[in-house]
Amino acid sequence: MFDGKTILITGGTGSFGKKYTQTLLKRFKPRKIIIYSRDELKQFEMQQVFNQDCMRFFIGDVRDGDRLKRAMRDVDYVIHAAALKQVPAAEYNPMECIKTNIDGAENVINASLDCDVKKVIALSTDKAANPVNLYGATKLCSDKLFVAANNIAGGHSTTFSVVRYGNVVGSRGSVVPFFEKLIQEKADYLPITHEEMTRFWITLQQGVDFVLKNFERMFGGEVFVPKIPSIKITDLAKAMAPDMATKYIGIRPGEKLHEIMCPGELSHHTYEYDDHYVISPTISFSSRANDYTVNALKEKGKVVSEGFEYSSNDNPDFLSIEEIIEFNQQAEL
Ligand SMILES: NC(=O)c1ccc[n+]([C@@H]2O[C@H](COP(=O)([O-])OP(=O)(O)OC[C@H]3O[C@@H](n4cnc5c(N)ncnc54)[C@H](OP(=O)(O)O)[C@@H]3O)[C@@H](O)[C@H]2O)c1
Repeated sequence: MFDGKTILITGGTGSFGKKYTQTLLKRFKPRKIIIYSRDELKQFEMQQVFNQDCMRFFIGDVRDGDRLKRAMRDVDYVIHAAALKQVPAAEYNPMECIKTNIDGAENVINASLDCDVKKVIALSTDKAANPVNLYGATKLCSDKLFVAANNIAGGHSTTFSVVRYGNVVGSRGSVVPFFEKLIQEKADYLPITHEEMTRFWITLQQGVDFVLKNFERMFGGEVFVPKIPSIKITDLAKAMAPDMATKYIGIRPGEKLHEIMCPGELSHHTYEYDDHYVISPTISFSSRANDYTVNALKEKGKVVSEGFEYSSNDNPDFLSIEEIIEFNQQAEL
């Protein structure tokens, strides 16, 4: 579906953007891939690796609506990956996080509508479900803006959906590189916040493949959630350094013991498909059907049981220590 098309990726120089670009170039023949982000050095470095004729690099901020509109001219598909995503930084600089994650979302929506983009997928996070920190709260606002955007599309045919998933193994600033550094430095112990802590676990490639697939599945308004395994953080420590001591240091501000992707309170809006869930909008769309039991690929979903919650500690799929080792190897760490 991306052959001959123009795709714009906000935050295209980030972990997700680079993997998405690499995958698009491997599997399709896009007319253009536009990378939209702020930092010229990251773009310069990406250009050294991705120097194909179809690549375009736009310096721009998602806070700048005019620049986004200029960048989106003749664009078919948009992936909105740009975000401020470090939980502590968001707590200390709340307005900066709000401007990028919420105002930026609104700008992406307006530019996509004005430029008649066909489909837009915005990336979300498990931290947006029942949020307890500002980062999660801004991503929930962003999710709501993208869902509601399907109602303001008016005469435009642009459709908007959201993809939500959990911890990407090895992404910048996450637990795996943190533990790796301590292991290399031969630290005395690995700090564990809580012995019961669990997290969802996904590779970057799985995240990219899930987004690609959902461009085919979407009608607009869905929050797509993949079925992925969970891990216990204590098992991750054992998988990475079986002989190293661990020390419990307590949950940090803004952190949850377990993450949620589909809140129980939204079970009556949640549909189970073979390999994913769909949270349907809590608003009705006037211009289209509001049936989310079947998607554009004709896959069928069923309503989940009342109160069903998709949570990292209540997941039927938990990785053992051996499976974590294998999984992390697959993640090309
Ligand atoms: N990594 C995870 O574990 C994870 C899990 C679930 C969901 N997500 C979501 O996935 C998305 C991508 O994450 P990632 O891991 O690829 O993040 P990342 O590696 O930190 O990349 C973020 C990208 O956004 C750009 N950016 C930041 N602020 C911007 C702004 N104001 N205007 C334009 N571009 C801006 C950055 O480039 P510049 O700094 O040069 O602008 C960079 O290209 C995010 O929306 C995140 O919330 C991530």
